[in-house]
Amino acid sequence: EGSFDEECDYLFKAVLIGDSAVGKSNLLSRFARDEFCLESKPTIGVEFAYRNIRIGDKLIKAQIWDTAGQERFRAITSSYYRGAMGALLVYDTTRRSTFESLRKWLRELREFGSREMVVVLVGNKSDLTHSREVSLEDGQSLAQLEDLSFMETSAKENVNVEDAFLQMINKIY
Ligand code: GTP
Ligand code: MG
Repeated sequence: EGSFDEECDYLFKAVLIGDSAVGKSNLLSRFARDEFCLESKPTIGVEFAYRNIRIGDKLIKAQIWDTAGQERFRAITSSYYRGAMGALLVYDTTRRSTFESLRKWLRELREFGSREMVVVLVGNKSDLTHSREVSLEDGQSLAQLEDLSFMETSAKENVNVEDAFLQMINKIY
């Protein structure tokens, strides 16, 4: 770890946001450690994970912040967003209410995030096809309207998780 820091060209901070239980922590554990947990607990406060990525000849150390979707467990919002260059804005494709909440999350992003922040909209739990409540088209049109990148993912089946994070990171570097 220490020796990597010396070689690392860029340190990059990104944040995960979205309602509770949409799968933020599992997207992160999948990306950082290739782990998934069916019975994960709600996040309290803030957690971090790192992953080193090579893009061309650049070494990038991605520091991803994960916080609680539940209001009562959230850390101070301004410090969470400070210095963040990217965000994954996550909803659950099987719960319409988490899609309706995106308006609130976008407002918060604009209030606390930097203007240049790269935001990827992520519809998670695409593996649960029989309980889908948000169509692919709904996700696509919101992304188009708000000028965001978009991807449906499954942290469980490891579908598009890597792509969602890399899309964000690629747009920055
Ligand atoms: P908070 O920390 O409360 O904000 O929730 P969170 O967004 O971090 O959700 P978390 O990652 O803890 O996941 C919530 C539940 O959804 C857990 O039971 C996970 O196993 C499950 N889950 C997460 N991603 C997926 C997925 O892609 N597919 C399925 N089927 N379940 C998932
Ligand atoms: Mg969590």
